[in-house]
Amino acid sequence: MVHTFVPVIVAYLLGSISFSFLYGKWFKGIDIRKHGSGNAGATNTLRVIGVGPAIAVLLLDAAKGIGAVWIGKWLGAGSDVSYIPILAGLAAIAGHNWPIYFGFKGGKGIATTIGVAATLCFIPALITGIAAILLIAATRYVSLGSLVFTGLMPVLVWLMDYPVDVFWGILLIAIFAFVRHRTNIVKLVKGKESKIGQKASGTA
Ligand code: G3P
Repeated sequence: MVHTFVPVIVAYLLGSISFSFLYGKWFKGIDIRKHGSGNAGATNTLRVIGVGPAIAVLLLDAAKGIGAVWIGKWLGAGSDVSYIPILAGLAAIAGHNWPIYFGFKGGKGIATTIGVAATLCFIPALITGIAAILLIAATRYVSLGSLVFTGLMPVLVWLMDYPVDVFWGILLIAIFAFVRHRTNIVKLVKGKESKIGQKASGTA
């Protein structure tokens, strides 16, 4: 039990560190969640603050995902249960989306998902990541890229015969992402989603 709960709680607390929120507060004196799309993430940091800070937030949020999976591997090492690193990755994404330190109002989890997926299933994450980047370059919709990235990954994980617990973890991550992007999905369908370089049309 200790081998399961401790890494999951530590990963959730790590994931709850919202770098876009902290960057906005410390360097700009703003609450990023009250600007642009209202999302505490790298895309909204790009929209509201700029490219350099957005890259820093993306890397730091992804590092949380990598760190969480490794915490799961390390603290869960004494357990009979194989899926503790996956649970820890999910917990970090949950922390990013619903951070305990910031009133449970966070981001959509994509940067943290990149870190988790790159650690759990590198090749599917790489292939779907390249597909997402190409799609974002073509359409300038980051949310569409995020949905394709997370939506295709369980399919590749399944086709490439990864362990079944990795498949279920990646599928849950995809469900998290689609639930968090429901406002984006509605805007994409209506043609009202903001593109890179445009101001957001209302908060998420
Ligand atoms: O990763 C978040 C992105 O997919 C959408 O962000 O701010 O446009 O809602 P945003």
